[in-house]
Amino acid sequence: MEKQRTFVMIKPDGVQRGFIGEIINRFEKKGLKIVAMKMVSVSKDLAEKHYGIHKGKPFFEPTVKYITSSPVVAMVLEGFNSIELVRNMMGKTNPVEATPGTIRGDFGQFIGRNIVHGSDGLDTAKFEINLWFKPEEISKYVRIDEKWLTE
Ligand code: RTP
Ligand code: MG
Repeated sequence: MEKQRTFVMIKPDGVQRGFIGEIINRFEKKGLKIVAMKMVSVSKDLAEKHYGIHKGKPFFEPTVKYITSSPVVAMVLEGFNSIELVRNMMGKTNPVEATPGTIRGDFGQFIGRNIVHGSDGLDTAKFEINLWFKPEEISKYVRIDEKWLTE
């Protein structure tokens, strides 16, 4: 098991539909530690950098427009295998295919409005955390339940 940091974003539809608390609650209950968090009105430049890997694809421009349309909540979560944990808790990209019990499976209908983002690998997580947060915005602390999360 590996302790990892991952970047998570509650997308504009998640914020507008009142899911900030619900989503954070799920990650907190899972034992993931919030080490950074802020609300951001995303610039076109930041959105294009964040989704840079998808440049040229048909959904690139609509996705940039979506992410810049209203504020998002950005955070860094820390925990064992947090990257995969968060991806599994989010569910598949298309909410139609996402299993009930996942965030997208419970609250989404449409691929272009899928509520939440989470880094998809170690390199992506590092890139996205650096892109969205300054080092001083990330807090180092021990949560009192940490020793109860592992053997
Ligand atoms: P994300 O990066 O937002 O966490 O989503 P993901 O890894 O599950 O999916 P990815 O393939 O990285 O796609 C990025 C985001 O682009 C939008 N999208 N729209 N209309 C479409 O076919 C389509 N495909 C992707 C979604 O908002 C997706 O989350
Ligand atoms: Mg992705």
